[in-house]
Amino acid sequence: MNLVLLGPPGAGKGTQAEILRDRLSLEHLSTGDILRSEMKKETELGKKAKEYVESGKLVPDKIIVGMIAERLANISPDKKGFLLDGFPRTVAQAEELDKILDDMGKKLDAVLYLRVSWEVVKERLTGRLICRGCGAIYHKKNKPPKKDMVCDICGEELYQRSDDNEIVIKNRFDVYNEQTAPLIEYYKERSLLKEINSEVSAEDTYTQIISVLGL
Ligand code: AP5
Repeated sequence: MNLVLLGPPGAGKGTQAEILRDRLSLEHLSTGDILRSEMKKETELGKKAKEYVESGKLVPDKIIVGMIAERLANISPDKKGFLLDGFPRTVAQAEELDKILDDMGKKLDAVLYLRVSWEVVKERLTGRLICRGCGAIYHKKNKPPKKDMVCDICGEELYQRSDDNEIVIKNRFDVYNEQTAPLIEYYKERSLLKEINSEVSAEDTYTQIISVLGL
């Protein structure tokens, strides 16, 4: 099964991806995670991306498309498909994805659109904590770790993303509305869009996803 997770920052794309990846044995490709890892390693790509990511702007399409094409071509045959999280994010990226998949003889099965309001986004992202070791996602109130700032799973330290401050969160939300929201119509026209109410708990969001996928 080949899926796209679409939705504003803080919609719960990463949270649902963690569950779906394991349940459906999918390759999880998060453009945000890949960019942050390249930034941490200070690679050429990471250096180019840093200014965009830290201000909440989109990294240019050309950089992103090349990065994702390479990873799609290298998915392990053991996986039962892929899960794109944070890609595509512009109509141009979606058109490029269509071409890449055509060339590979693959297609998308569904685009899961996680719908949330600005108020929910702000509350979720200002409280988000992430593990430096395994990348597990927590929230100060909604999903606190058992021990303060320590990952329940691997014991590494938790941190707040540098783009999770109120000014950058607002920029990211505005950029989403201007450049990414048109994808809702793009995928509706192709009969791939499945709308999910993501303002409920992570468990209830997951239940809706399983239901729309007919699993
Ligand atoms: P990226 O890392 O993709 O960030 P994002 O899209 O802004 O999404 P987030 O990771 O912030 O949110 P999420 O929806 O995954 O929410 P999460 O599950 O963590 O991108 C970062 C940057 O990289 C971009 O700004 C851009 O610069 C660049 N970039 C990336 N892709 C790009 C592309 N394709 N093109 C160009 N540039 C690109 O949940 C958030 C919090 O809420 C957590 O604390 C979680 O515990 C909590 N939570 C989740 N679900 C629930 C729930 N149902 N109930 C209660 N709490 C919940």
